[in-house]
Amino acid sequence: AADPADPVDRRDPLVIAHRGASAYAPENTLAAVDLAGRMGFAWVENDVQRTKDGELVVVHDATLARTTDAEQRFPGREPWRVADFTAAEIATLDAGGWFGAEWAGARVPTLKRYLNRVERNGQKLLLEIKRPELYPGIERDTLRVLEEAGWLDRSHVRRRLVVQSFGADSVKAVHRQRPDVVTGFLGTPPVAELPSYAAFTDQINPPHTTLTDDYVAAAHRLKGAHGKRLQVNTWTVNDTAGAVRADGFGVDGIITDRPDVVRDAVDRD
Ligand code: G3P
Ligand code: CA
Repeated sequence: AADPADPVDRRDPLVIAHRGASAYAPENTLAAVDLAGRMGFAWVENDVQRTKDGELVVVHDATLARTTDAEQRFPGREPWRVADFTAAEIATLDAGGWFGAEWAGARVPTLKRYLNRVERNGQKLLLEIKRPELYPGIERDTLRVLEEAGWLDRSHVRRRLVVQSFGADSVKAVHRQRPDVVTGFLGTPPVAELPSYAAFTDQINPPHTTLTDDYVAAAHRLKGAHGKRLQVNTWTVNDTAGAVRADGFGVDGIITDRPDVVRDAVDRD
C-alpha cells in the first residue's frame, strides 16, 4: 500500500516550497524556510554551492550579485562568484534587503545551519546540487555535510531527504556513493531514455512548460532506483491554473514559490 510519508511512494501531490516560501520571504534563507513551516509546508527546496574555501552554502545563482549586497560590500570583486568568496566573507553579506527592507540582515546560510533549521522545524528537504560542473566533488562534500548533520540515518533517508540536480553525472555520483539516498533528475529526458535514468534516480523533475499527461504516464510506468514508481515533480508552478493542470496530469509533487496558492488549487477535500 502507498505510504503517504514516503517520498517515493505517495499518491497525492506534494507541495514543495521552492527556495523556501520564496514569493513571501527572501529565497534560500532561514527566514524563507521558517515561513514555509509557519504556513504549514513540510517540504522545502534549496540550492547548494561551494565557497572558495570549501564550505557549502545555500544560494541559487552562481554569483552573489542578485540576492546579496556583495556588489556594494566588495566592489571590484566582479562578477561576485560564490566560488571566489570565502565562507567568512559570505557570512557578512545581507541576503534579505534586496527582497524588502524588513528582511535586511538575513544571511546566506551554510548548508550545515540550513539543515539544522529544517530539522528543528520538523521539515523535509529537496536539496539541489546547483551547477555541479563548477564544483568538482561537490556530491561527496554534500553527502559529508548531510552525514555530519545526522541526515543520512535511516529515518531521514527514508522520509525526509531527496537530492536532485540538473547534472545527470551529479545525480549518478550521489546514487553511487550513497545508494540509499533518494535522488531526482531535473529536466525532461526523452521518454525512450527514461529507463536509463530510472537506473540511478527515483524522480524526474521537469519544468512545467515541458510537462504533458503522456510524459507523466510514461514515467509512472517505470520503477525508479529504489524499485518504486518513478516519480514526477514539476516546477516552478505559481498559479492556480498551472497547479490544476499539473495535478490533472497526476504529478507526484509541485515545486512552487507560492505554496499556499498551489495547496488551495490541489486540495481535494
Ligand atoms: O527544484 C526545481 C527548480 O529549483 C529548478 O530550477 O533554477 O529554480 O533551481 P531553479
Ligand atoms: Ca533549485
